[in-house]
Amino acid sequence: MNKKQIYILATGGTISAQGDEGKTLGYTNGVFKVKSLIKSIKGIEDVTKVNGEQIFNIASEDMSIDKLLILAKRINELSKLDNIDGFVITQGTDILEESAFFLNLVVKTSKPVVITGAMRPATSNSADGPNNLYDAILVASDEASIGKGVLVVFADYIIRARDVQKIDTFRPQAFAGKEFGCCGYIHDNIINFINKSLKPHTINSEFNIANINSLPKVGIVYFDVNLDSDIFDYYINHDYKGIVIAGSGSGMISKRWKSKIKEMTKNSIAVVRSSIATSGSVDRDSIDREYRTIPSYTLTPLKARILLSLALEKSNSYEYLKGVFEKY
Ligand code: SIN
Repeated sequence: MNKKQIYILATGGTISAQGDEGKTLGYTNGVFKVKSLIKSIKGIEDVTKVNGEQIFNIASEDMSIDKLLILAKRINELSKLDNIDGFVITQGTDILEESAFFLNLVVKTSKPVVITGAMRPATSNSADGPNNLYDAILVASDEASIGKGVLVVFADYIIRARDVQKIDTFRPQAFAGKEFGCCGYIHDNIINFINKSLKPHTINSEFNIANINSLPKVGIVYFDVNLDSDIFDYYINHDYKGIVIAGSGSGMISKRWKSKIKEMTKNSIAVVRSSIATSGSVDRDSIDREYRTIPSYTLTPLKARILLSLALEKSNSYEYLKGVFEKY
């Protein structure tokens, strides 16, 4: 049987980092480029053919929507080639959940797109990068991964891009799908898928970035009991087209904030309500009817921000945006 051909798009992050021998802190990102990463995964050439390119070499904090657009367009371009069967993106873990969801909504291929990274630099005693990368390549070359949307492979788990969240700042088991769980797992070379997403993604998503080089600005405002509503003036005066509120509990906000929000939605700034809570949902409520806000349902503020920017690029109609959040 012909071996699958997997293409790595390396972007930097801890998976590419070098530090003091054995240690996990104080390392330098971006030292090990794509060729060294491929060399580090022993035995992979027995199962797949791996090639790749260094598309960026940054810590993920320095990722931006503009860079994600470049990455997504590159995947869309390469996906047309017959000699690429699947993709692995290596990146920093800090904003991995944002890039995963973004790619999930805009890549136009059913070929597997798998994202991975590492919590420990390659030079630490407990380096997790090589195993994560090995597993990610296996998942990208598995027929069962076709059409499943963008997948995150980390510490033996396969997690859907829509649901994945970073849940730890230093342990290797740093990602989870929270109450939605993982969609599969890998043990040695055996991949077990358990479920799949019912939400639209990749080729079934309505977002097409082919002719787009930037997206409308959307901010996130985190609620706390003491925060004055004049924080919103910054966004209003800097041409933000949308705001995601990380509200308390089920997306709740104070009376002080409510009048400001009414003013913003009247002036066509879209306001989405999400939550500071890390699981659960923010569902449609009387507040949405009264203030023309939009609930984010099970999307975290980070994910809601991505979806709102993409949706605003198409339309700022309240009915359209409300429908998008119900659908995705
Ligand atoms: C980063 O996100 O680039 C640094 C942290 C990491 O990769 O774990």
